[in-house]
Amino acid sequence: MNVLLLGSGGREHALAWKMAQSPTLNQLFIAPGNPGTATVGTNLPVAVDDFPAIKKAVLENAVDLVVIGPEDPLVKGVVDFFLADETLKDIPVVGPNKTGALLEGSKDFSKQFMFRHNIPTAKYLSVTGTNLQEGIEFLKTLQAPYVLKADGLAAGKGVLILNDLNETITELKNMLDGKFGAASKTVVIEEFLSGIECSVFVITDGKHYKILPEAKDYKRIGEGDNGLNTGGMGAVSPVPFADEIFMQKVEKRIIKPTVEGLYSEGIIYKGFIFFGLIKVGNEPYVIEYNARMGDPETEVVMLRLKTDMVELLEAAAKGNLDEKTVVFDERAAVTVMLVSGGYPEEYEKGKVIAGLDKVEGSIVFHAGTAEKNGKIVTSGGRVMAVSSYGKTKEEALVQSFKNAKLIDFDKKYFRADIGFDL
Ligand code: AMP
Ligand code: GLY
Repeated sequence: MNVLLLGSGGREHALAWKMAQSPTLNQLFIAPGNPGTATVGTNLPVAVDDFPAIKKAVLENAVDLVVIGPEDPLVKGVVDFFLADETLKDIPVVGPNKTGALLEGSKDFSKQFMFRHNIPTAKYLSVTGTNLQEGIEFLKTLQAPYVLKADGLAAGKGVLILNDLNETITELKNMLDGKFGAASKTVVIEEFLSGIECSVFVITDGKHYKILPEAKDYKRIGEGDNGLNTGGMGAVSPVPFADEIFMQKVEKRIIKPTVEGLYSEGIIYKGFIFFGLIKVGNEPYVIEYNARMGDPETEVVMLRLKTDMVELLEAAAKGNLDEKTVVFDERAAVTVMLVSGGYPEEYEKGKVIAGLDKVEGSIVFHAGTAEKNGKIVTSGGRVMAVSSYGKTKEEALVQSFKNAKLIDFDKKYFRADIGFDL
């Protein structure tokens, strides 16, 4: 089987690494990929949202299965593009269609969906230019802190959590006036939930689903979970507080009604669902859905899967996931993200990365790297995810931190406290 994977981050390198271990895989293509994915497959110089170029790549390379990594092409309708094309419509694609991707692409859509299906989530009100006053009245019924969310995709920056009511009202107006562009023309005001967060992943064929290993990611730039939000500074799996009782509640109250809800509404959803959860007391609530795998969570989830990933992806696309079993690796897996100094604000690129040859006992997934004159250089804020196994997460972390120190580039930074709160 020939597979095309879309994307170029650490998530895609981890997915590609796992798929490359499959005996059913013939050729693996990654578009556009990165220097890491080039070590396990063939990179193609095609952008994830250039649909005509993707079509050409699929036909030229006799691709049998397409896997979509990031949300952008999903929200832009890449799956619908395949289904509407005579020559592509029978090629299985792993990813939801444009409507399914709204679970991530529109907070208003996802909140309405959860309320329709009685899925536990924070109380909310959606506000546009026409009901601002109603929004202000709703805010007054809530207690600080106040949560404002841009409805659309805002590169992970569209959520504000504020303590002062007047400031919140000002920010609500700023958002409606375009603070996050078109993404905040609608704003979701939410009740604040207090608890500990974790990420739960399923793969679904639209009818059946399989639960994948859960993970906890560390979003803040600073140790002790301080400072600005990032794409994710590290991750740990398993998550001790996501025990059997908790996961049973998650499955019964959240996963099942989500998959059944999509099905009953006629939404074609073959792909990953990422449940961003918060445990309030002992009860799980949904903070957000994503229509894809998490990054850097994938860099631990793939380590904890014994099951053949190509088989699982093919079954999701073809509709026979019920015939598959997912086997977890009993070991713990962790990842530590090496980032460019200054990230998530301004940072420099093009720094030569040294020491990769010294790494032992970890798997290094490339995220923001490029090749220049035969050298690997930095090309993004999040540069590499250093992933390791261990009997315990502590053991795995020792390994990742050791290798995180051996890899070197100018202004490298990583959080040395991943897993500190578990
Ligand atoms: P989101 O983009 O919806 O995942 O929000 C980003 C982050 O904001 C989440 O990971 C939470 O830490 C926080 N957050 C979002 N919504 C809430 C909420 N209703 N209560 C508390 N924290 C929240
Ligand atoms: N790590 C969070 C995300 O992928 O959105």
